Amino acid sequence: MTVRIGLVGARGHTGRHLLRLIAGRSDMQVVCAGSREFAGQPVTSLAPEAEPELMFEALTPDDVAGRTLDAVILALPNGAAAPYVAAIEAQAPGMVIVDLSADYRFDENWVYGLPEIYGRGRITHARRIANPGCYATAGQLAVAPVRDLIAGAAHVFGVSGYSGAGTTPSRKNDTEALSGNLMPYALTGHLHEGEMTRHLGIPVAFTPHVAAFFQGLTATVQFEFSGPQSLEAITERYHTAYGDEPLVRLTDTIPEIRDGAHFNGAVLGGFAVSKEGLRGVAVCALDNLLKGAAVQAVQNLAIALGRPEFDGLT
Ligand SMILES: NC(=O)c1ccc[n+]([C@@H]2O[C@H](COP(=O)([O-])OP(=O)(O)OC[C@H]3O[C@@H](n4cnc5c(N)ncnc54)[C@H](OP(=O)(O)O)[C@@H]3O)[C@@H](O)[C@H]2O)c1
Repeated sequence: MTVRIGLVGARGHTGRHLLRLIAGRSDMQVVCAGSREFAGQPVTSLAPEAEPELMFEALTPDDVAGRTLDAVILALPNGAAAPYVAAIEAQAPGMVIVDLSADYRFDENWVYGLPEIYGRGRITHARRIANPGCYATAGQLAVAPVRDLIAGAAHVFGVSGYSGAGTTPSRKNDTEALSGNLMPYALTGHLHEGEMTRHLGIPVAFTPHVAAFFQGLTATVQFEFSGPQSLEAITERYHTAYGDEPLVRLTDTIPEIRDGAHFNGAVLGGFAVSKEGLRGVAVCALDNLLKGAAVQAVQNLAIALGRPEFDGLT
């Protein structure tokens, strides 16, 4: 049976990729696509891969909850999901919800879906799934294999393309302000700092930056070890953690933005240990719109519904 999906926020940066990725799977179909701005237009005008008859609709929470759907993907700005979740809880509680925003990433009643670190077991049969943030995915992938060796905080230096700021105009997606520039922002207390700290269970200090390219990000992560470590032992940990993961590519080189952009997975490398063995570095590059958002949402949905996780993704 084909999984019938409602996608709310379908004309946004992540929505656009969700339309494409789901169209590439034979077991899933977007049957309604929400956009107030594009309502009445064919979805193929934005995503040529979509079903020819699918039109954008201004879907209200009640519209979504009243449709015959197996799952709903919410790709809305932070703070906008609650009315959709409330309507689904009230009218169709069995529908699976995958939320791309930060709204439920700190909620005990939702499963945080980062399969390569926290496993598939919790996601299988889950009905409420919070999809991790893009920087938070990269930072956690880089820290998780060594987290028990770290003394104090892990420091994550992130640089992202401006699609990370969504389509609502702001200085962070203003190509004129970004031209020839690197823009640091939210230098303490960024949402992804709290997210990484909460889920990794160690303190994370995160400094995000936005640059003039469209998509892709890198997280350069530094940590101090509680005792001396060798590069071989540290590298081995990453291979043990991710060696069998189809969406994590391990490299001996230092990943750059170009390695992760337009790639469905994450690239991890740049492993380094200082001479005395007490400081380590790892770098993760991924696409903020793909493994940092849409690819991970499709993975999570497939796991929750017992479908092949990597169909159309590898
Ligand atoms: N961009 C990234 O790199 C990235 C990565 C990971 C996670 N995320 C998260 O994913 C979510 C979507 O991000 P995005 O970059 O795709 O955003 P976006 O490009 O700004 O798109 C937002 C979408 O939400 C719709 N929308 C906005 N306000 C709404 C409301 N009040 N009710 C219903 N629909 C509304 C918009 O369509 P209409 O206005 O036409 O209805 C649009 O389709 C955000 O929570 C973001 O934090 C983004």
